[in-house]
Amino acid sequence: MKYSRFSTALVAAAAAWTMAAASGVDDAMMANDADGSNWATYGRTFSNWHFSPLAGINEGNINRLGLAWSLELPGITNGATVPLAVDGVLYFTVGQSMVHAVDAVSGRLLWKHDPEVTRVAGHKLRYTWGPRGLAVWKDKVYVGTTDGRLIALDARSGREVWSRMTVTPEDSLTLTGPPRVFGGLVVIGNAGSEWGAVRGYVTAYDAETGEQRWRFYTVPGNPADGFEDEAMEMAARTWTGEWWKLGGGGTVWHAITYDPKYHRVYIGTGNGAPWNRKIRSPGGGDNLFLCSIIALDADTGRYLWHYQTVPGETWDYNSSMDITLATIDVAGEPREVILHAPKNGFFYVLDRATGKLLSAEKSGKATWAERIDVETGRPVEVAGVRYEESPALIWPGGIGSHNWHPMSFNPGTGLVFIPTMEIAGLYDDKGVDRKRFAMVRGDLNTGLVEFTGDAPPDAGRSALLAWDPAAQRQVWRVDTPGLWNGGTLSTAGGLVFQGQSDGMLNAYAAANGQRLWSFDAKMGITGAPITYEADGRQYLSVVVGWGAAGPAFFGSLSAQHGWQARVHPHRVLTFVLDGNDSLPATPPPLVAQPVDDPALKIDPAQAAQGESLYARRCNACHGLAAVAGGFAPDLRASPVGLASESFRAVVQGGALELAGMPRFDEFSDEEVEALRMYLRRRARESLAAMRAEARAGDNSDH
Ligand code: HEC
Repeated sequence: MKYSRFSTALVAAAAAWTMAAASGVDDAMMANDADGSNWATYGRTFSNWHFSPLAGINEGNINRLGLAWSLELPGITNGATVPLAVDGVLYFTVGQSMVHAVDAVSGRLLWKHDPEVTRVAGHKLRYTWGPRGLAVWKDKVYVGTTDGRLIALDARSGREVWSRMTVTPEDSLTLTGPPRVFGGLVVIGNAGSEWGAVRGYVTAYDAETGEQRWRFYTVPGNPADGFEDEAMEMAARTWTGEWWKLGGGGTVWHAITYDPKYHRVYIGTGNGAPWNRKIRSPGGGDNLFLCSIIALDADTGRYLWHYQTVPGETWDYNSSMDITLATIDVAGEPREVILHAPKNGFFYVLDRATGKLLSAEKSGKATWAERIDVETGRPVEVAGVRYEESPALIWPGGIGSHNWHPMSFNPGTGLVFIPTMEIAGLYDDKGVDRKRFAMVRGDLNTGLVEFTGDAPPDAGRSALLAWDPAAQRQVWRVDTPGLWNGGTLSTAGGLVFQGQSDGMLNAYAAANGQRLWSFDAKMGITGAPITYEADGRQYLSVVVGWGAAGPAFFGSLSAQHGWQARVHPHRVLTFVLDGNDSLPATPPPLVAQPVDDPALKIDPAQAAQGESLYARRCNACHGLAAVAGGFAPDLRASPVGLASESFRAVVQGGALELAGMPRFDEFSDEEVEALRMYLRRRARESLAAMRAEARAGDNSDH
């Protein structure tokens, strides 16, 4: 669509909206792409553009953008989140589903709701880092929790109105994705297919009462139990062996988009459980509906169509990334499409009516497939990528070329702005007993050889990419620091905003990627900014915090930025033209200093046992090879590990459970000591390496 046509549509729709306002968030507000006053749902409107038609802050005056206020969020370990703004109130969830309502103009906290997740989550506390967003409908706010509750809060008071358990306490499923609301329904999926034998599903609840209205499973269960619907029967024909014993996976852990035109829900499914298809489905097969976009009838959850981006997924690839609705020119004709940049490194344009593939091109480094055949819709895989001759180094690795970090779509220019990553995965299953493999609840179950190494600082890189989906080509790209950066916001003011791993919030010219403005937030940013109006002025807000998989897993690659959750505060920052507030004093980036007890004798066999336990149960939060990326404390540097008693009290006894450190009471004393020995060994090795580096530095000075 040309910009002028778009703006005329904007004005008409904005007028219609003004009359309908005041009843809170409803379908009309979320369907209205033209009115920028609120940011009412995760992607702002149903289109999921992460774009605002506001142009009060623009290329011409961005140099006047300044801090209006900041609010510190004490004791928070996850800030990978997108806030909402409705009628001048900012809503956001941080840490373990702590929901905040804040006056957008003054920064005054109106209320806060703590669902006390760490008190009730038990083993589920191990599987996630907290949610990425929330939803508002009429007079209620909705949030999911790590223990699996979907909670409705009164938007005015923060009081709990209803709560539904959406999973079973025994499984490894947690809620991390933002709930999506439309037409009086609230839809939520779940996450956790690495940590136990689970089948993915989405459930729709009545937004008012919390009654369950429908549920759709994404992978088939045991045929002997009968199938829930015809879709599952069809899907089962694409699986082999006894997959149901392993769960299968396919969790809908992030992407859910409602399409008001067709009254449909599009869901994006995740990887297989375990990742390795040779184990999951030993005779091969596409394994529907893993790694797919599925269209469902919004009233009933009935299957309508699907498009699978990665048939026979075996690399932890996902289609859980943004599902964006747009109208773009395809072969000279405006077409209603879905834009999708999943983990696998390709950018997809699908026909929204039918799910048929219109085009797909590489938008990142992808060595697993040569191209996507548009006729069949299937990838043309490169020989050997399924680690037939293990091991195989494949781009992208399981973290993806693009992950959940929102991309944004500017309907005026037709460009998409994508936070991209470039990092390989090493896939190796040599020596894994594929026949006897079982999903062990609590382990990182991949079906691959355990990875115990670090990710060095240069193991990956990242870029902000401007992509033309109609032409399927790059328009510009700028390198961004490290691997794990925030989602993007684009605006009719000709700007693209992104918070980054080095703590900078940047604004770029949408036309060419020139950096026009920066603000040093003094802590890594992983969420995405939003913009909205309050008291007649345009504001921009972002939750500053170093959260989710990057900081948790990626060892030295993430630790290089020097953020530590206990040292560097999470904050909400709000900006306005001519804002002149400044941040309170904040410690500079800090590198963890390992501590050693030179008198301690480390038993190598015991430390090796600990290394394996660590890789299965601890590195998801404390980092690869015990190098913490900043989400949880660096265990090489923690004095807690210097004595057996204090270490046992934390790991086995749950002494820090309320602060977010899960309890591992299934471990024997001997296993805990093995873990401790491994950490002592890592501390000693790291210190020796640091000293050697310092000596090399000294010598080169002379
Ligand atoms: C889901 C994330 C998560 C997992 C998994 C996890 N931890 Fe933690 N751990 C944390 C957090 C968060 C803290 C900090 C809590 C606080 O602020 O006091 C922590 C703190 C600790 C501490 C205390 C450090 C200090 O200096 O206070 C120890 C020791 C520890 N963890 C050991 C382990 C071990 C061993 C494992 C694996 C068996 C493990 N953790 C798995 C999140 C995790």
